[in-house]
Amino acid sequence: PLVPVILCGGSGTRLWPLSREGYPKQFLRLSGETSMLQQTLQRLTGIEALAPALLVCNESSRFIVAEQLREIGLNNARMVLEPMRRNTAPAIATAALQAMQNGDDPILLVLPSDHVILDTPAFHRAINLARDAAEQGNLLTFGITPTGPETGYGYIRAEGGAAGQVQRIVEFVEKPALALAEQYIASGDYFWNSGMFVFRASRYLEELERFQPAVVAACREALAKAKSDLDFIRLDHDAYAASPDIAVDYAVMERTSHAATIALDAGWNDIGSWAAVFDVAKKDANNNSAQGDVLMQDCNDCLVHGNSRLVTAIGMRNTVIVETADAVLVMDADQAQHTKTLVAQLIAKD
Ligand code: GDD
Ligand code: MG
Repeated sequence: PLVPVILCGGSGTRLWPLSREGYPKQFLRLSGETSMLQQTLQRLTGIEALAPALLVCNESSRFIVAEQLREIGLNNARMVLEPMRRNTAPAIATAALQAMQNGDDPILLVLPSDHVILDTPAFHRAINLARDAAEQGNLLTFGITPTGPETGYGYIRAEGGAAGQVQRIVEFVEKPALALAEQYIASGDYFWNSGMFVFRASRYLEELERFQPAVVAACREALAKAKSDLDFIRLDHDAYAASPDIAVDYAVMERTSHAATIALDAGWNDIGSWAAVFDVAKKDANNNSAQGDVLMQDCNDCLVHGNSRLVTAIGMRNTVIVETADAVLVMDADQAQHTKTLVAQLIAKD
């Protein structure tokens, strides 16, 4: 079987003021009634021989997550609860160890919970290819054709095999500096890493053991001492705290010699900014997108989110307005990358 491992413990403040430390973007309903976490789970429907999902999230998010599972009628998922954030390498390791507990060694489908994928059939086809390649011992990623020198992504250079088929990764560079990213884009030889992975549980743990043994040791102990009830597996606080804080991309993907990739053309978007939210949102005849109680007059190319009261706008162009109970963002849509510096200033002020 294929075990979906859903990572939903990240923080993410790029969609400030809607996403916050305590309410990160995977739980937001940005495009309609369901959250990105719920869409991630629903997108799996139709994949063959799928085991119940394992969700790895922060202890403090357990009620939000449980409620969102209930809303979509998913009642067979289990949740691994982290007492603190240690990034994705340990989050995946605890899921791998948990999935192997009955002596099984399943293929894991590791998914971030905060992405949009428009073409589900194309996504399923790529998963099926990846699954076969993972049976052979490979660690699979999905390569996205880049659109610019974004520094927030991993970059992949692959060799052999036709596009859309399995290709061997010859270079994986996580979050390169801008100059390097520009060089990669100019060369035309690189994919972005989508952040989704397919591999056998034991193969991941072997590679992690090789490069970051302290992570595996901490996760083993945190799970051995975990307190479990029906749906929740609560990792041991002190044991998990001892794990290095490191992402899977640095810990394993940059270093392993078993990495492979499949080019994925499925309308993938990681919604890293309000501009990306706007890109995937439904728009009206004036190319406006409104959510909540919103009234626009003579506006074009605007994204307006009203969350706690009526929001009105007149004569605005190319503008993002996000209203919440305690903060309002009004921004030129072309400056959507700059929320980061704004949030940094706010944190500095605190
Ligand atoms: N459970 C758990 N615990 N989940 C976590 C943690 C954690 O400590 N930290 C992050 N996550 C979750 C996030 O919620 C998200 O769903 C996923 O893991 C990826 O984490 P991000 O922090 O969003 O990673 P990133 O966006 O900087 O980089 C990754 O994704 C890019 C594509 O969006 C990398 O894989 C890049 O190589 C990739 O290009
Ligand atoms: Mg991300």
